[in-house]
Amino acid sequence: MKVIKDVLQLQKIAFKHLREGDEVGLVPTMGALHNGHVSLIEKSVKNDDITIVSIFVNPIQFSPDEDYLKYLRPVKKDLEICKKNHVDYVFMPSANDMFPQAYKTFVEVEALQSIMCGVFRPIHFRGVATVVSKLFNISCADRAYFGMKDFQQLKIIEKMSKELNFRTKIVPCPIVREKSGLAFSSRNFYLTNEEKSLSLNISKILKEAAKEFKNKSLSVVKKKAINKLKKIPNSKIDYAEIVSIKDLSLADKNMKKVVFAVAIWIGKVRLIDNTEMTK
Ligand code: PAF
Repeated sequence: MKVIKDVLQLQKIAFKHLREGDEVGLVPTMGALHNGHVSLIEKSVKNDDITIVSIFVNPIQFSPDEDYLKYLRPVKKDLEICKKNHVDYVFMPSANDMFPQAYKTFVEVEALQSIMCGVFRPIHFRGVATVVSKLFNISCADRAYFGMKDFQQLKIIEKMSKELNFRTKIVPCPIVREKSGLAFSSRNFYLTNEEKSLSLNISKILKEAAKEFKNKSLSVVKKKAINKLKKIPNSKIDYAEIVSIKDLSLADKNMKKVVFAVAIWIGKVRLIDNTEMTK
């Protein structure tokens, strides 16, 4: 496994693999790797000749009041996880190499970037779309793997990739959960034991909603779930929305396949989760 810190060096390596006919898989991450990331890495190692994992805490997807500086950076542990899982290259660029001073080019996926999480994190998805575009161009990846926990992010990247004609195919991967049901997330590390046990309610409530959706109306399911979410002690709901699985538009009563997506604060930690619901 090689660790590459230089943008141009990784791009050179990627071009070489492209010329030689290797299929390249990219797993974009911000590090603090957990089982969710490992599932993406495993998929790429299985599907692709070469697997690149990028570890880059992307400054432009955090607002000044968010946790950029505080974001976990357990580099040694992350590299061990990558090595153990047969990654070929770990790409760890510096913020200055990716976004030098006077950097001015951004990618925006209008409409989708300003709903749901975008209401509360206005610059977030422009930062994500921009860094992912750069990672696609630097890695020349044939496939890139994204978890469905960040469902809005996935939809934005799918649309961006299609509309900007990137050669990289997006591979959506299922949410990986702890035994308790809690979706793996780097931000779970911030939870105290008590907050962690409170946060288990989120997946439980979503699971119950998906069950009820089979024979209850959308509005009843949503109302019941929101009432239950509101009762979680020490919590604050940013949003709880049932949306179309295709394009994140608000679900209507005729839709048979939808996604119930929530963002909720448990103490000082903002968690997101979602579940697919089918009639
Ligand atoms: O999901 C993440 O970890 C990040 O948003 C991503 C896609 C690596 C871009 O920084």
